[in-house]
Formats: sequence, C-alpha cells, structure tokens
Amino acid sequence: MNRTMESLIRRAAEDIMERGTAAALTGSGMSAESGIPTFRDKGGFWEKYDPNLYAHIGTFFTDPGKPWQMVKEFDSIARAQPNPGHHALAELERMGYLKGVITQNVDNLHQQAGSSNVIEFHGNMRRAVCLNCRRYYPMEEISLEVLPPRCECRGVLKPDAVFFGEPIPAIALRQAQEASQQCRLMLVIGTSAVIYPAASLPRIAKESGAMVVEINPETTPLTDHTSDYIIIGKAGEILPKIVSEIRTLSRAGKEIPRSR
Ligand code: OAD
Repeated sequence: MNRTMESLIRRAAEDIMERGTAAALTGSGMSAESGIPTFRDKGGFWEKYDPNLYAHIGTFFTDPGKPWQMVKEFDSIARAQPNPGHHALAELERMGYLKGVITQNVDNLHQQAGSSNVIEFHGNMRRAVCLNCRRYYPMEEISLEVLPPRCECRGVLKPDAVFFGEPIPAIALRQAQEASQQCRLMLVIGTSAVIYPAASLPRIAKESGAMVVEINPETTPLTDHTSDYIIIGKAGEILPKIVSEIRTLSRAGKEIPRSR
C-alpha cells in the first residue's frame, strides 16, 4: 500500500467516524472481485451483449428468448459469493456508521453479505415476474432449459431487474433520493456513474451537504466536480482497510459519533 492510499484510507475512516451517517452507492465494480464482470470495462457485459438487443424491455415483447440468453449467463455467474468489500459494508452497518446501501447491482450479494438496509435501485435478478399476471418467482425455481421461461398462466417471465426503457421502481427511487439527502457522507463504490438517475444521487448528496468519497480503480465523471476525493483501488481491498482503520481509531479512543 503506498503512502497516498494509506493516508486516504485513514482520512476516509476519520470522515466516516466524524460524519456519523453514511450511505453507500454501489455499482458493478463492487462485485468484480466476486467474479461478476462489470458492464463497461474491457470484457464487460455490454461488450458481449448489445444492450439494445439484449437488455431493452421492448425485446421481452418481440423476441423474449433473447434477453433470457443473457440472463442465463448472468444467472450462473451471479451464484457467486460476496467478496471482502461486501462484507466490509455489512460490518460498517453493524458498527452503526452506514445507514444503508443503494445498489445498482442485481446480484443480491450485499444482502448475502449481511447488509440489511439495501435499496435495490435496479431491481434484483434473483426474482422473476410474470409480465401477464405479475406473479413473482424465485429465480432458482425457474427452469432455463427452454427460453423464455413462462408463468403457469403462460405469460412470459422477466427477471425483476430494471431493463433499459423501464422506470426505476418508485419506492426504490424515493428511498434512494431520501437516503442521499439525509446522509452526511456518501461512499460511491465501483460505478462508472454514467447511468441516470443513479448517477444523480451523489450530486443530490453533495448538494444536501454530504461529503462524497469514491472508491474505484478509475476516475469517473464525478471525480472532478462532485467527489471530495477518490481512493484509487479495488473495493474488496479498500473497504476492509477502512473498517480496520476505524477499529484502530476507536480503540485509540477517538470519539465515535454513531448514526444521527
Ligand atoms: P460499469 O461497467 O459502467 O462501471 C463499472 C465501474 O466499476 C467502473 O468505474 C470500474 O472502474 C469500476 N471497477 C472495476 N473493478 C472494480 C473493483 N474491483 N472495485 C471497485 N470498482 C471497480 O457498471 P455500473 O456503473 O454498475 O444498468 O453500471 C451502471 C448500470 O449500467 C448498471 O446497473 C446497468 C448498466 O447498464 C442496467 O442494466 C439498468
């Protein structure tokens, strides 16, 4: 670990402790170390699957087998396990510093790691919904032998994730906006911050007085104008170090103002 990274990790630990109420916004980079490809990096999902053909809601009505081909691949990868970054965020919540995670990810890994307050901004791929009768099915109960899978009513099933052309679920949108307004620090982890409205949440947080701290191996459009600082690195490496720094600081007797 170089000195810059070391001092930024220490700074983030202190900021989280001092600010008391943090929220996290996560993207696909959060799960990269669990073996799930991101969308826009080299080797990412959109390199293999044209999102207009495979990830647009319209395709469920014209050629529903097509999006399911992609979902089938995602489904096998997404049986991945949470990585140390997911576990660190769950730990931050248990310690009383993190109010919740707003995630664009549909892989359920935050929930599996033990985070209890997770806002599923883009839905969750572990469930499917019938486009005809709206019945929900756990993904593991669906056979992907014949595509598209269908409901008992013969309607086409769709993963309960947000596809292009679909709105963000209203409750998730409201909760995410509120969480962004209320937090005093937002960790923005593993997202390229180019897809709206998710990408507007850090700005809402900033304009409401929060500090914005990015964790990402690359800079993003937020880095120069919205973020207070960025810790360049991988979520699965940086987040556990922040948690352990907070523990060290609290053992050293630094005051810990918990969630306000
Ligand atoms: P992207 O693929 O656009 O961005 C992934 C980000 O993760 C990049 O900024 C990477 O630098 C970063 N990254 C890669 N490895 C990382 C690691 N180990 N730790 C931390 N960061 C890492 O994915 P998203 O920003 O999640 O929407 O994409 C947003 C939305 O676009 C997705 O939810 C999806 C997609 O189209 C829908 O499908 C509706």
